[in-house]
Amino acid sequence: MKKQSLQSIAKVMMQDGKGILAADASATTMNKRLAAVGVEQDEEWRRKYRQLLFTTPGFSEGISGVILYDGTIRQSADDGTPFAKLLEQHGVVPGIKVDKGKVDLPNFPGEQVTEGLDGLKERLEEYYEMGARFAKWRAVIPIGEGLPNEAAIEANAHALARYAGICQEVGIVPMVEPEVLIDGDHTIGRCDAVMRATLGTVFYELERYRIDLTGTILKTSMVLSGKERGMDAPEAVADHTVGVLRDMVPQELAGVVFLSGGQFPEQASANLNAIMRRGPHPWLMTFSYSRALQEPVLSAWEGVDANIEEAQRVFKHRIDMNVAARAAQYDSSMENME
Ligand code: G3H
Repeated sequence: MKKQSLQSIAKVMMQDGKGILAADASATTMNKRLAAVGVEQDEEWRRKYRQLLFTTPGFSEGISGVILYDGTIRQSADDGTPFAKLLEQHGVVPGIKVDKGKVDLPNFPGEQVTEGLDGLKERLEEYYEMGARFAKWRAVIPIGEGLPNEAAIEANAHALARYAGICQEVGIVPMVEPEVLIDGDHTIGRCDAVMRATLGTVFYELERYRIDLTGTILKTSMVLSGKERGMDAPEAVADHTVGVLRDMVPQELAGVVFLSGGQFPEQASANLNAIMRRGPHPWLMTFSYSRALQEPVLSAWEGVDANIEEAQRVFKHRIDMNVAARAAQYDSSMENME
């Protein structure tokens, strides 16, 4: 089988008018989200929920790729079609979260490093056979008193570069995600500085490990004040985010996608819109949200079959809002125009 080039996979993922759905919450995280809306927490209910998402009418009009979790890529729709196949049939690129989560970094209280490199090549080969064409690895960088430390950023950047190299060896596009966390009461200026340090180190390691940036996608946080400080004006978010990315992110990258990181759904759309209004940008950019696309969907569904249609309508609406934001055409008044 001749493998598709990394660049051609990334091109489909970053195509105009669409974005990426992150449906890669682990079983534990997904169970918490199901419990919060009173839904049973087992494999079958997680499958039903993912089926609701992937069978939403018009889903592929605004979604070009989906990040799956190990358990999810092994599941199928009611008619027996594996989820990865179902996505492919609609021209949506299946992806997979491949890190194994974070562990405390000894001697650095409050800081963590993401694990999962051992056996990664074999896991990626299996995922490739199942249809995955891109893979995500999430590192977390906290902001706090004396945090982050350089050593923690470096440990995470090193792991990101090692994982990206293994992905490319197997023919899978790495979606490199160093998430600078929103938790805390820091200023937007402090987030700006931490993002610069983080992205600087990540790209230093990617280049050092000879990663092909033209076949790599960056999944990044926006530059925001800590959650305890309240919401920033979208213009401030755009000023800082575009400034940091322009200074720190090489232009040859295949794309930049944003995580929502605990922003409210409308806030994530308004901020993306403000960022896109600052364009044209040197890279293709779009959304890759989990919570900001799905929170209202879970609340509308509550595990009730009779609510599926409404939940899918809510989901399609959030997709549409973010597609509009990608095109710099979002306006909060559109939220009520359904
Ligand atoms: O790793 C995190 C997900 O891919 C994005 O999730 O949009 O809820 O931050 P989020």
